[in-house]
Amino acid sequence: MAESESSAGLGRRTFVTGVVGLLGGIIAAVVGLPAVAYWLGPSLKKQESDAWVPLGPVENIPVDVPTLFSFTRTKQLGWERSATSYGVYVLRAGGQVLALSNVCTHLSCRVTWSPERDTYLCPCHDGHFARDGAIVSGPQPRPLDRFALKIEDGTLFVHIVEA
Ligand code: FES
Repeated sequence: MAESESSAGLGRRTFVTGVVGLLGGIIAAVVGLPAVAYWLGPSLKKQESDAWVPLGPVENIPVDVPTLFSFTRTKQLGWERSATSYGVYVLRAGGQVLALSNVCTHLSCRVTWSPERDTYLCPCHDGHFARDGAIVSGPQPRPLDRFALKIEDGTLFVHIVEA
């Protein structure tokens, strides 16, 4: 009889311990999974790697004069947020539109348009580029990079590809 009560007590105790453990596990899952998802979510998001950036109405861009447009794009990669500044020289000439990066292809200094010399000048190592981005003189290995562009409803867009 005493043995039976002891056996029943042990069974009840085991059952209660199991139920408490199960409830604890459920509560931990209910509270913990959203927290884990919250912390891991940003790092699992896929980052958009390219975009069409509007620069404004084409008709407002001066003809035959390289015109600089600047903008900054922010990117979220996991928990890290970074901002990248872009400079685009747009040239409207002969019914064509050209969009050049203002980043020198030598060591990435920023070039500026010099109307007096009719060239883009790089201040770092005296690199010179023609108005179409071709190399005139200097150590740069290739012409200025060109952005793909499109015109929609009179607005000029350049295509940005982010690494
Ligand atoms: S960085 Fe432009 S010429 Fe060197």
